[in-house]
Amino acid sequence: MSTTIAVAGKGGTGKTIVSAVLAKLLTRKGTVLAIDADPSMNLYMALGMDMPDSIGDIRESLTATSQTSTRPAGMGLHDYISFSVRQTLVESPSLDLMAMGRPEGPGCYCAANHALRVAIDHIADSYDYVVIDNEAGMEHISRQTTRDVDILLLVSDPTIRGVTAAGRAQELLREIRTQVGQIYLVLNRVQGAIPPAVEKEILARGLSLLAVIPSDDSVRELDSRGRPMVELPPDSPVQRMVRKLAHELGLVTLDEPIEAVSPSASLRKGAEKP
Ligand SMILES: Nc1ncnc2c1ncn2[C@@H]1O[C@H](COP(=O)(O)OP(=O)(O)O)[C@@H](O)[C@H]1O
Ligand SMILES: [Mg+2]
Repeated sequence: MSTTIAVAGKGGTGKTIVSAVLAKLLTRKGTVLAIDADPSMNLYMALGMDMPDSIGDIRESLTATSQTSTRPAGMGLHDYISFSVRQTLVESPSLDLMAMGRPEGPGCYCAANHALRVAIDHIADSYDYVVIDNEAGMEHISRQTTRDVDILLLVSDPTIRGVTAAGRAQELLREIRTQVGQIYLVLNRVQGAIPPAVEKEILARGLSLLAVIPSDDSVRELDSRGRPMVELPPDSPVQRMVRKLAHELGLVTLDEPIEAVSPSASLRKGAEKP
């Protein structure tokens, strides 16, 4: 049984950086499959891995004219799809990477899509942790795989607009997917304290604030040198806060206590609700 953690939120909020740092951290505890579910496919860069071929490419080849099919004679469709999905994985000792690529087109590729989902879920089940870096929309969470999400992290900037969008996403997810376990808000790129109006909005939207990640100069420094985010120093704010949130989720045990930007007492109380 794997634990599936999905990271979602608006574009540019920090989904990829949180996914990459969390995925890498979880390798201390077990095997990890990182799934890049954003068509712009940049999780590999944050992880410092090679770019994988995408599941979208497999779908295309399956639905293209039969002349282009490379399925060996005698190999069943399901075995072939499972084999093809495995072939796309970029592997490292305890962390593998899969990329979804282009989403399903409007045409009916139902059989292929179903077989792809089954294959992906089967492969994902063999890892201890699955971390999904989602696109800004929620489509992938509902469509790309059939797997249940144990923990959903909604990443937002510390603005009313961002928190409102996260609140809507939470509502939407509860409607379209009953199999989402816990949903938490992660505020990223916070400078100083959380503005009181934003705290109020978090409470009003019924969001559980799990972590507050400060704006991190070492991120900019790595970005400017084109280095992967997994090279962030262990004591950088992003690394520290991702360790803290993983600890609070019961995923890892901290070797040292971590100080955080502390939200007001009322907010903490709100966040304690399941
Ligand atoms: N805590 C932070 N401090 C400084 N820069 C950050 C922080 N979090 C994210 N960034 C930067 O913001 C940009 C968007 O982050 P990214 O993780 O790619 O967002 P998303 O995947 O949600 O689009 C990147 O350039 C990233 O380096
Ligand atoms: Mg991203």
